[in-house]
Amino acid sequence: MAKLYAVSRERERAVISGLHHYALEVPDLAVAEGFLQDFGLETREKDGSLVAQCPGRDQEQVRLTEAPAKRLHHVCFTLRPGSLDAIRESLDRAGTPVIEPPDGATADGLWVRDPDGTAVQLLDEAPAPARPVADVLANVGGTHQRIGVPAWRQATEDVMPRRLGHTLLFTPQPERQTEFYTEVLGLRVSDRIHGLVTFLNAGPGDHHIFGFIASSHPGFHHASFEVPSIDAIALGADRMRGKGREPGWGLGRHTIGSNFFHYNPDPWGSWIEWFSDIDQIDDCWVAGDWDVPPHLWGAPPPETFLSNLEPRA
Ligand SMILES: [Fe+2]
Repeated sequence: MAKLYAVSRERERAVISGLHHYALEVPDLAVAEGFLQDFGLETREKDGSLVAQCPGRDQEQVRLTEAPAKRLHHVCFTLRPGSLDAIRESLDRAGTPVIEPPDGATADGLWVRDPDGTAVQLLDEAPAPARPVADVLANVGGTHQRIGVPAWRQATEDVMPRRLGHTLLFTPQPERQTEFYTEVLGLRVSDRIHGLVTFLNAGPGDHHIFGFIASSHPGFHHASFEVPSIDAIALGADRMRGKGREPGWGLGRHTIGSNFFHYNPDPWGSWIEWFSDIDQIDDCWVAGDWDVPPHLWGAPPPETFLSNLEPRA
């Protein structure tokens, strides 16, 4: 009985501490570089790959390698300190083998494949701190925090992404993927939109760091970066418009997760998002299964929003 309890407690513990980066194969690194720079990321070449990171954060958040078609290459998570043995035991119990790093990736950490065949890198290191940002004072509800300070003079001061928040993948088997990432890797279900979206968290912090959208086959749907305010989201959308980028989806507020959002389509048929004001959860959070649209307000998503253009394996 005691052993069962111990196993159960171990499975409840979120072993993953956060999303480190995501990696795609794309047909043209020069096109990718221009797009990510317009979005607000800093880019550089590294070992034949294009890497991108948020201004002021010393952590690679995107890795891109060149290939004939756009395709998800891998996702990478950080582990809680000292949890490497627990994750190895968990992988053993589940019969999930550790694999060699895929071509074009670093050899750091442990590599496995999830049930969809996506390569997953697990790093035994702490995430780098996000770029510090100033408090955003507001005069909303019954509280007036901003006295004698004009908002329009401050709102443009810091609008760039400060950290990668989450990535969502398409999957034809959300239940099996969810079981792997929760039972084996220790994430937890945050909330679901019935039959459409599953969001997962890594314990106290952001409502979701990862998740799945039901689809015909695996693929990369979007990555989302935190900016300091709702103004920063709208100013980012203005910046993309000014650079001639295709219109996206937003501004709006999501239902589950509650974050303000704006998405732009990337050059390969998937999406990139700025977010602000995402729900923060604690260990007492109880997941729900909701029958709601993904947005609380704002225009509905474009018809192409759930198109999975990745080639089937
Ligand atoms: Fe998102």
